[in-house]
Amino acid sequence: MEKLTGLKKIKTAVFISGTGSNLKNLIKFSIIKKSPISVDLIISDNHQAKGLNFATQFKIKKRIFGYKSVKITEKIILKLLEKKKIKLICLAGFMKILSKDFIKKFNGKIINIHPSLLPKYKGLNTHARAIDNKDKFAGCTVHYVTAKLDSGKIILQKKIKITARDTPISLAKKVLKQEHKLYPAAIMTVYN
Ligand code: GAR
Repeated sequence: MEKLTGLKKIKTAVFISGTGSNLKNLIKFSIIKKSPISVDLIISDNHQAKGLNFATQFKIKKRIFGYKSVKITEKIILKLLEKKKIKLICLAGFMKILSKDFIKKFNGKIINIHPSLLPKYKGLNTHARAIDNKDKFAGCTVHYVTAKLDSGKIILQKKIKITARDTPISLAKKVLKQEHKLYPAAIMTVYN
């Protein structure tokens, strides 16, 4: 009998560099019936990434690249994505910047989750910067990836309050919790 799992779902690759809590969350989301995606590939630039354990746990193919040459690495990744018929890339704490050429050549969509209320705080240390600036709100954003860092069209955003007691660590925890709701919701928006 034909295997039905994943049938007609959009084949997705998740790119990670670290803990992979968003990856785990996306895998769990992909398994539910109403999810438009299946997670078929996990790519990392970091052999030590804790999130790679989810590849083993959920029996998903993983590939790790040293990125000695960005050009060669991206060429190999593009070939792999093509071979696996990947049509969506979800960046989930992936700390390498994809080249303009890669973004142009990939035959599909690329989306990213960023821990700030873009266009505020592109790049790193978003929570410390929000606290230092005495912002009242922080949050997270899912957006399309373009050649300009953290600047592509916004798909969804979630705002949360910064309290007087918040530190960059406590804020990161609170925002991450919201990220886990926002990423699946953004994917539903993209494919609706
Ligand atoms: C998340 O907070 C994500 O928004 C952020 O890294 C964390 C990864 O956590 N991404 C960026 O800063 C991208 N510039 P995770 O590995 O537990 O998903």
